[in-house]
Amino acid sequence: MTRIGFIGVGTISEAVIRAMCARPDMTDEILLSPRSPERSATLAADFSQCRRLASNQDVIDASDMVVLGMRPQQMDEALSGLTFRSDHVVASFIAGTPPSGIAPLVAPADRVCQLIPLPPITLHRGPLVICPDLPEVVAAFRGLGDLIVLNDESRIRVLSCASAIMSTYFELQNRVIDWIADHGVDESVASRYVRSELDGLAAVGQVTPDARRRELPAEFQTKGGLNERVRAGLLERGWFEALPAELTEIYDNAILRPPGRQ
Ligand SMILES: NC(=O)c1ccc[n+]([C@@H]2O[C@H](COP(=O)([O-])OP(=O)(O)OC[C@H]3O[C@@H](n4cnc5c(N)ncnc54)[C@H](OP(=O)(O)O)[C@@H]3O)[C@@H](O)[C@H]2O)c1
Repeated sequence: MTRIGFIGVGTISEAVIRAMCARPDMTDEILLSPRSPERSATLAADFSQCRRLASNQDVIDASDMVVLGMRPQQMDEALSGLTFRSDHVVASFIAGTPPSGIAPLVAPADRVCQLIPLPPITLHRGPLVICPDLPEVVAAFRGLGDLIVLNDESRIRVLSCASAIMSTYFELQNRVIDWIADHGVDESVASRYVRSELDGLAAVGQVTPDARRRELPAEFQTKGGLNERVRAGLLERGWFEALPAELTEIYDNAILRPPGRQ
């Protein structure tokens, strides 16, 4: 049994905690910091594994692993004055600050890693980046989706940028649903159709071996058929160049904030 303390119980921490507690074999204890009082109290009421403590330091003292779940701009204030032990494992959700940036703030704890949980974790689906590979962290977060373990922290930023396609995905989904509805089909039918279509395609994408992934576009279109015509039209409009260009833009302009600076 690992005692996992959360400093910062906001949106993403709640999603992760609910996903952790929903696992049938969950034996770890979860200790919650008292900020976001309503959210932390509700979690403690909903799950026997969760306990809300009186202060951040109480959480740290009672924990084997400390999860940092505050926003980047709250990090310095939240961590100042807190005392960590050398045997603590620290797992940070804080975007834009890699493990080497967190380490000085939690010394003498020196086993520090960064995680990138995404909202589908509530369904135990989607990627969960862990960097570097700390066995205790991998064990604590197992079963919450596809664990993507990195050892080079300079790569975290690349995958963080790839996580920025989520809202675009839903914009795509909704544009197609709206187009169908605008052409006279009942909106609920349109919605059911498109969401099921995307679900089926995602399932095929997941089970197709990596070596064959580049064949999928051609496999899912008939020569001269509707799929080929739509894809060719979008290629001609520069649609598929625009997406990597936007990813490059956020990669180049993402701010990696050194500790101690706003
Ligand atoms: N949301 C996502 O999908 C997502 C995905 C991956 C990573 N992240 C990262 O996860 C972190 C949290 O994001 P979020 O969306 O969950 O933010 P959020 O909902 O604003 O949660 C921040 C939490 O930190 C608490 N907090 C602030 N100062 C504190 C202090 N001094 N001591 C203890 N707790 C303190 C806040 O409490 P109060 O409410 O009382 O202020 C709140 O519970 C961010 O660094 C973000 O980059 C988020």
